[in-house]
Amino acid sequence: MNEQAAIKKRHAAAAAVRYLQQDMILGIGTGTTVNVFIELLASGGTAALPRAVVSSSEASTARLRAAGMTVLDVNDVGRLPLYIDGADEATRRRQLTKGGGGALTGEKIIAAAAERFVCILDDSKLVSTLGRFPLPVEVIPMARSYVARRLSEFGGRPVWRRGIITDYGNHILDVHGLSIEDPVAMEQTINQITGVVTCGLFAARGADRLLVGTDEGVEEI
Ligand code: 5RP
Repeated sequence: MNEQAAIKKRHAAAAAVRYLQQDMILGIGTGTTVNVFIELLASGGTAALPRAVVSSSEASTARLRAAGMTVLDVNDVGRLPLYIDGADEATRRRQLTKGGGGALTGEKIIAAAAERFVCILDDSKLVSTLGRFPLPVEVIPMARSYVARRLSEFGGRPVWRRGIITDYGNHILDVHGLSIEDPVAMEQTINQITGVVTCGLFAARGADRLLVGTDEGVEEI
């Protein structure tokens, strides 16, 4: 990561701190921007500290435990007031593409369960139309070829992310070359294909806030 990108991520992560409330249960996503946020929590320098967290991935769980946080199973948590996570792309309508880190299914579950989803990202990821970033789709391994053929019908080029097995034992197809004019419709259509676990469009349930790190600070959308 270059220094300019690192500064932007720090700006976005630092802006998320003010959404914390003392002793809340907090949902935490996955990725390098979230890792900056976890470091802030671990440093103890935030005015409020969560009582416990739920995590979207094994990678974040390991990091959170190493930082001394209590990590709960999302099944054991009733109310989840806040989820903080990054994104690979976002529009100003707060619709997202996620899953570059392969954790899209856990991320979608926590985003769905959370009352508020605050997304932290840098300004290089703001787009007018989703699709520049290849769309990740998690698939049951047996269905990989079938789903790839079906995804080709959307005009994109699905590429198997070889060597990656998700936390749930599945494969990922990255669909290149899409121009996603109607993210809600495409999310629903792809999720209906037999063998798809979920796709990386967060459109029906997008973010409630974008905290966009820039050179100067943060833009809130
Ligand atoms: C992981 C994700 C991440 O939120 C996304 O890839 C952004 O990561 P980063 O903050 O490292 O750019 O969806 O599955």
